[in-house]
Amino acid sequence: MEKILEKSPGGSWVLIGNLKVEPPLFLAPMAGLTHSALRRVIADFGGVGLFSTEMLSARSLAVENPKLSPYLIKTPEESPMSYQLLAGSPREIPPAVERLGELGAAAVDLNLGCGAPRVKRSGSGIALWNDECRLKAVAAEIRKRTSLPFTAKIRLGPGPDPDELRRRVLILEDLGVDALYVHARFDREPFSRNPKWQWVGKIKEWVNLPVIANGGIFSLQDAQKCLEQSGADGLMVGRAAAMKPWIFSIIASKLYGTDSCCRQINLPEIYRAFFEGLASRFPVDRQLGRLKEFTHYFAGNYPFGNRLAMAVQRASSMDEAMEAAVKFFELNAGTEREKAN
Ligand SMILES: Cc1cc2nc3c(=O)[nH]c(=O)nc-3n(C[C@H](O)[C@H](O)[C@H](O)COP(=O)(O)O)c2cc1C
Repeated sequence: MEKILEKSPGGSWVLIGNLKVEPPLFLAPMAGLTHSALRRVIADFGGVGLFSTEMLSARSLAVENPKLSPYLIKTPEESPMSYQLLAGSPREIPPAVERLGELGAAAVDLNLGCGAPRVKRSGSGIALWNDECRLKAVAAEIRKRTSLPFTAKIRLGPGPDPDELRRRVLILEDLGVDALYVHARFDREPFSRNPKWQWVGKIKEWVNLPVIANGGIFSLQDAQKCLEQSGADGLMVGRAAAMKPWIFSIIASKLYGTDSCCRQINLPEIYRAFFEGLASRFPVDRQLGRLKEFTHYFAGNYPFGNRLAMAVQRASSMDEAMEAAVKFFELNAGTEREKAN
C-alpha cells in the first residue's frame, strides 16, 4: 500500500505507567507462539512498541530456569518486554513478581480473558475475571508488590449488557491498573466473528486509562479501521504477527510515521530465521511443536499453504520439517499473497 494514510486518531506513543511505548503497537501474548523465535523475527523488522511473553503460570514462573525455559528464553533485541501472568490466587503473586524484577520485565500483564478449560479449572483467566473477590485480591497484590507498569488483558464479558463490564474495568482502574488490553469479543465468541472495535471506544469513555484495542487486525487497513472505530490509544496484534511478522513495521511506518519499513519481505528467509531461532535457542524437545504451530499461521501467506502446513505437521524431526518446507517454497515461488499490507 503506497498511500500514507491520514494521521492515526491516537498519538504516536502511549504512556503505560512510567513506560513510554512508541509506537503504540503491542505484540499480543499467545501460548505456543510469542516465544523468543517469533519475537526475534518480528524485532528484526521493527515496529513493535512492547513485546509480550505467552501466558506464564505465576506458580511455575518462580521456579523456571530463564536460560532453559522455552517460556523465558530471549535475546536482547526482544525488548521492551511485558510478561503475562496467569494467576488464580493472590498467594501466587509475590514470588512471581519478584522473579519479574530479576528477568528485567518492562511491564506485567494479568490474563483475564483466557477461557481454555484447563485455565478456567485453575481459577485463572476468565474464571478470575468472573470472580470479583479473587479478581480484586490478585490485582491488588500485583499492584502492592511492584511498581512496574501493570496492565490487564480482558475480553468484553459474557454478553451485550455493558453494565457488568463497566463495573469490572472501573474496579481494575481503582486498583491501580495502568492500561487495558481489550480483545474485542465476548467471552465465548469464536475468532471467526467480527471483532467489536466500537466496544473498545465505550471502555475508553468509562476509564481514564490508556486502552489498547485487540482482535482481528490482519492488515494496515484493519489497523486503520480499528483505530477509527475504537479511538484506541494503541493496537495489539496477535495471529497476524505469526502470519506476517513484518506487519508491525508496516503499521508503524504508515500510521505512526516511524521509519521501520524498509526491509525486504522474503518468506523462505523469514521461515528459516524462525527455524534457526528455535534450533539454536530452544531445548530439542521444545522445537518441533513450536515450528508446527507457527507454520499453521505462516502458511496463510500462500494460496496452497495448507500443503505446507500439512507437510510440516507430518514431520517427525526439525530437519524433516525444514526439508518439506524448502520443497514447498521452491514449488510455490511467486505464488505468495500480497505482502505489503
Ligand atoms: C494460539 C493462541 C494463543 C493465545 N494465547 C494467549 C495467551 O497466552 N494470553 C492471552 O491473553 N491471550 C492469548 N490469546 C489471545 C490473543 O492474545 C488475542 O487476544 C487474540 O488472538 C485476538 O487477537 P488477533 O485477532 O490479533 O489474533 C491466544 C490466541 C491464540 C490464537
